[in-house]
Amino acid sequence: MCGIVAAAARREVSEILLEGLRRLEYRGYDSAGMALLDNEGNLLLHKQLGKVSELERVQALQPHYGCTGIAHTRWATHGEPSAANAHPHISGDRLALVHNGIIENHATLRDELKAAGYDFASSTDTEVIVHLLHYYLQQGLDLLEALRQAVARLEGAYAIAAVDADHPDQVVAARQGSPLVIGVGIGENFLASDQMALRQVTDRFIYLEEGDMALISPSSLQVFDQQGEAVSREQTRIDEVVESVDLGGYDHYMLKEIYEQPRALAATFSAGAGLLSDDACFGDNAADIFDRVRNVQIVACGTSYHAGMVGRYWLEELAGIPCEVEVASEFRYRKRVQHEGTLLLTISQSGETADTLAALRNAAPGEFVGSMVIANVDNSSLVRESDLVFLTRAGAEIGVASTKAFTTQLVALLMLTIALGRRGGMEPETQRELVNALQRLPDYVQETLELDTNIEALSEAFIPKHHALFLGRGIQYPIAMEGALKLKEISYIHAEAYPAGELKHGPLALVDDDMPVIAVAPGDELLEKLKSNLEEVRSRGGELFVFADRAAGFESEPRVRVLNMPHCPEAMKPVIYTVALQLLSYHVAVQKGTDVDKPRNLAKSVTVE
Ligand code: G6P
Repeated sequence: MCGIVAAAARREVSEILLEGLRRLEYRGYDSAGMALLDNEGNLLLHKQLGKVSELERVQALQPHYGCTGIAHTRWATHGEPSAANAHPHISGDRLALVHNGIIENHATLRDELKAAGYDFASSTDTEVIVHLLHYYLQQGLDLLEALRQAVARLEGAYAIAAVDADHPDQVVAARQGSPLVIGVGIGENFLASDQMALRQVTDRFIYLEEGDMALISPSSLQVFDQQGEAVSREQTRIDEVVESVDLGGYDHYMLKEIYEQPRALAATFSAGAGLLSDDACFGDNAADIFDRVRNVQIVACGTSYHAGMVGRYWLEELAGIPCEVEVASEFRYRKRVQHEGTLLLTISQSGETADTLAALRNAAPGEFVGSMVIANVDNSSLVRESDLVFLTRAGAEIGVASTKAFTTQLVALLMLTIALGRRGGMEPETQRELVNALQRLPDYVQETLELDTNIEALSEAFIPKHHALFLGRGIQYPIAMEGALKLKEISYIHAEAYPAGELKHGPLALVDDDMPVIAVAPGDELLEKLKSNLEEVRSRGGELFVFADRAAGFESEPRVRVLNMPHCPEAMKPVIYTVALQLLSYHVAVQKGTDVDKPRNLAKSVTVE
């Protein structure tokens, strides 16, 4: 999704801005642009449809140099992907501005500005901000005050950075609802929507808070709160080594990340050493909050929502704790009634998903006994704003379709189940068994990865198909949903997941030889029921792909292809079946020739509603 990078330095910054954009590329975008102020105070602009490499190409052909600049990757919301709609947007040849977020009242503002004589060069919501800023500068206000007046007119979410040719060493910024961080340098300062973009130039960051505005120059940085008071925000040093984000010999990040799972799962579990006796891995106040938890409300989006659905089975079955799960975009707008003693648990790889963040922020005072997030990105908004934090140790996930983040979220959820279960009378023996299973999980996943060639062979049958049906029962139902989501995200095959028992209440009507049916069928207590569902499919000419425990007694036969999965403890099955389905989608997508790591229209981090 959209990304911002900005710099105010004494050295030339075009390469810093481009490198920042390259680091944000994985989030998904459709166009990119950069504006620089040169030594003579000229505003120089490049904007391109397509990849950052396109922007680099025009920069090489017609180099623009400057010590102050802003840059952006755009993911279209208002107006189609095009060079005209790419940011930065300009006003009056002196001002350039980049924006993440959505301005809800842009139509009214546009009419007003047109009446005041402004011409619009794009169909974006963003362009109203730059003209508003221009309008207030014309009234004689200084740059910061003009920005304050401009953002006071905005309804919606924004992170903004702007430069003005009349203030050639300054960048001004504002945030409300979209993240923005200052990168603190020596004799230079930076801004970005994500610290990742600036790790090449600094390890010191100041996270702006809601309603903050900032002004940076090479020698100074100032932050002002919503009331316009100068404030001092805490500076954070991020010491961890920047992970290598190269492909490491794999063809795609997604495949690399699928194969990184044994290590990511082990690292995530090792963060909870001592889990059987204390809650330290969830944060300082964890024991106090957990003691008061009677229910859990999970809120998340996309793949993280599926993790939450798996978590509900564990929390209810293993810990005896009532649990609700809801997608954040619904939860945030619904009038709700909470049970007493409810923990609000958000799950998010990025920690920045707009709807999930809004769900946390909209919680009424006293509605929950506390909030907790399971996130993969330290210092993200959800991490900074939640009472308790469990950080998954998946490492940077670049592929838009989430893989290792999901399975590490499952580990975190099972660890939380143990921590809460300890209080609700979960047998010590059960706790130990779960911990032992988690310890061995990387081995079960490794065994599953070794089935890659067999899974690749199965995937060929999907190439000519346009639809697929995934079935699962019990805790494997959300795994079927996640399998269907992966397939549609990266191979563009329409895929649906159903609880196997619902088959005859509708989807059976769709089953024919163009509709492969994938069944997630570990040898659990529901196996016999699932077997009869599968017969219903087969007797209607459907082609079956059964992912089954090798002990379950399924055998391949005409129109039934069976993948024998490793035998492992019950609680580990959701993880290993997920890995197998990830590989299936991956191979289908590769053979279909889609953009596996950056599927069309999707973004890694959805920071707008
Ligand atoms: C986007 C991504 C998904 C992700 C979802 C939620 O849709 O493409 O992979 O599951 O956002 O993101 P989060 O960072 O909150 O887990």
